[in-house]
Amino acid sequence: MTFGAAWRDRFRFEAGIAYLNHGSFGAVPRVVLDAVAGWRERMEVEPVRHFSREVPVALAQARTALAARLNADPDGIGFVENATAGANAVLASIEWRPGDTVVTTSHVYNAVRNAIRHWAGRAGATLVEADVPFPSGGEDEIVAVVEAALTPRTRLLLVDHIASSTALVFPIGRLIALARARGIPILVDGAHGPGMVDVDLRAIGADWYVGNCHKWLFGPRGSAFVYAAPEHRASLHPPVISHGYGQGLTREFDWVGTRDMTPWLALPTALDFSAEIGPQRIAAHNRALLAEAVALIERRWGTQAGVAPSQRGFMAAIQMPRTGAATPERAIAMHDHLFDHYGIEVPVFAFGGALWARISAQIYNELDDYRRLADATWPAS
Ligand SMILES: Cc1ncc(COP(=O)(O)O)c(C=O)c1O
Repeated sequence: MTFGAAWRDRFRFEAGIAYLNHGSFGAVPRVVLDAVAGWRERMEVEPVRHFSREVPVALAQARTALAARLNADPDGIGFVENATAGANAVLASIEWRPGDTVVTTSHVYNAVRNAIRHWAGRAGATLVEADVPFPSGGEDEIVAVVEAALTPRTRLLLVDHIASSTALVFPIGRLIALARARGIPILVDGAHGPGMVDVDLRAIGADWYVGNCHKWLFGPRGSAFVYAAPEHRASLHPPVISHGYGQGLTREFDWVGTRDMTPWLALPTALDFSAEIGPQRIAAHNRALLAEAVALIERRWGTQAGVAPSQRGFMAAIQMPRTGAATPERAIAMHDHLFDHYGIEVPVFAFGGALWARISAQIYNELDDYRRLADATWPAS
């Protein structure tokens, strides 16, 4: 099975774009879009039958299918629209006390940083960001930096499974063990986890894990989940309280008012899509392609990726040649330049005083996509 350009037709990409940003919003296979369309049709032809009879059954089936993929107990999985909503649910459900701290890292996703500020801040709890160096010095360094930030006042440790801009895969097994040894609850922000790295929710032992299906699991946008360990299920609520209040995690999350449920209902089709190809085969392709692409770009640009291959999943941030100030504004200008002049869709971030291009590798990509980026030039600012 040869991936690459031959697989682009399974998706609905516009012609001519080197699409190197699966990470931000995923890409949905046609077969999954068809499943969504099928469910939308069911919703429209008889809305009452859809919401009162079809949805409860199909949602339970979708949850069972997702739980099997994540090796989780379905009763611990609540469907949410996105990882941000899942993180908000956890943060809103914790009983904060004045003087508590939430420890996270300098790689935290900004929306989640804001959610911590909002929910914990309301009760007088504060945010502490452990400064995890980037380029990364490796797992031991990360664990040591996070450990140094923990104190008896730490009420929650929140770590990314894979960080957004730096694409660093955090050693969550070690970080969970660290938190558990100190009796500190831990929330893993796995927005990029499922589909990119093995996620075994029974084995990893986090208190809560939030994950997107619409990034690396080929799910429709708006399909995500929050998982809670058994001891936290009764106290985890969606930020929107509705009919299911007090009736258990799944009932509370299944109904937060009338909304389009089709992204979750189409999840089994997305899971079948990757199962038929084989998650191991997808991973092997994406990792090998990423390694080749990074080496090619590093050679052309004379710079380096921020993390060693052992700390990468299907994404890597590569430092851009210095052509001006490393500001967020310059990052946007560089992105727009690459898109407008070369048809390259790649995110550019300012981090730690440098600009980084974060490339993604997915089954529809091939080395030519990255050659375009390697050969691009840009004006000095
Ligand atoms: C680490 C991390 N957390 C949270 C999010 C937010 O995901 P969503 O927009 O699906 O809520 C992202 C998105 O890229 C992310 O990378």
